[in-house]
Amino acid sequence: MCFPCTKKNHLKRCKSAMDRAAGVLQLALAGAGVLLLYRILVRLRAEASLQDAVVVITGASSGLGKECARVFHAAGARLVLCGRDAARLQQVVQELAANPTGSQQTYAPVAVAFDLADRHTVDTAAEDILRCYGHVDVLINNAGISYRGAILDTDISVQRDVMETNYFGPVALTQALLPSMVRRRSGHIVAVSSVQGKIAIPYRSAYAASKHATQAYFDCLRAEVERCGVRVSVISPGYIRTNLSINAVTGDGSKYGVLDKNTAQGRDPTDVARAVLKAVRQRSSDVILAGPLPSLAIYLRTLWPALFFKLMASRARKEQKPKDE
Ligand SMILES: NC(=O)c1ccc[n+]([C@@H]2O[C@H](COP(=O)([O-])OP(=O)(O)OC[C@H]3O[C@@H](n4cnc5c(N)ncnc54)[C@H](OP(=O)(O)O)[C@@H]3O)[C@@H](O)[C@H]2O)c1
Repeated sequence: MCFPCTKKNHLKRCKSAMDRAAGVLQLALAGAGVLLLYRILVRLRAEASLQDAVVVITGASSGLGKECARVFHAAGARLVLCGRDAARLQQVVQELAANPTGSQQTYAPVAVAFDLADRHTVDTAAEDILRCYGHVDVLINNAGISYRGAILDTDISVQRDVMETNYFGPVALTQALLPSMVRRRSGHIVAVSSVQGKIAIPYRSAYAASKHATQAYFDCLRAEVERCGVRVSVISPGYIRTNLSINAVTGDGSKYGVLDKNTAQGRDPTDVARAVLKAVRQRSSDVILAGPLPSLAIYLRTLWPALFFKLMASRARKEQKPKDE
């Protein structure tokens, strides 16, 4: 419609332009709302259900592994719990079997005891694991040991031992179970690494090296098996309140035996276990569970390595000896 050019008509034009703008805004908001709702629905549908899923957890007798056993059990998973100590695993099995939780149907877990550091037992253990339910939906490579020591005082056998438990063991178990996942075109492999898989700090050489290797191996694996329907998540937590430092080995192979201050003040293992569950449900590729300082250090290592190395050298001078994780 064409209005003669008067003040009244000018006002009319302004009002109709504002009405149009308000209409467009309303339409845009409604569109954004529908899109958000759609994305939430898609995400909820995409979240993997763990009811009846066969979940293998290594290092399930203690700390984070035991908490993972609790949360995956409550989510209705059929668990195969692994560790070296058969009696401690049985204790966890009995605890969980006696405590059916949540509204899900729960199952009594099965235990398979073996030493991840003994490469001859891993293949047999993988066969035992597959015999439990015929397949594995989720493998959580959680078992691990830590280390405290100066490189100068550390026997090469200790470097190898830590690598066997934290790297070669999980790699051997993963490779033994992988063909069955690829055949079914379905499966999820989780590696519990550490912030120390992203940054190396002094007096932790064996541990940090094993976790860097873990990160690299599982990053390669993720890329290689995505087309086969197998997902890979690497979880990198900071300190968790567990017995990790007590069970750590020192340069001569003896047990460290101390609950470090940082570990004692670390995250609640139940919270970390819930984050592992979330990562599996959402099929996350890489999850860092750390506070602002370690997170900043990870960025610094990439963006300003010279400064990061200076800070680590200063930390090493101050410590002069192995201390907290
Ligand atoms: N606690 C932390 O601050 C922290 C931080 C970042 C990442 N993480 C990672 O979290 C994971 C779990 O550690 P955690 O903190 O729960 O420590 P933890 O309480 O000492 O538990 C370690 C578990 O690993 C098992 N294990 C150790 N050596 C093994 C071997 N050779 N073969 C089979 N199982 C073995 C132990 O069971 P048996 O003794 O019965 O074999 C135990 O169940 C580790 O990979 C660790 O690197 C921990």
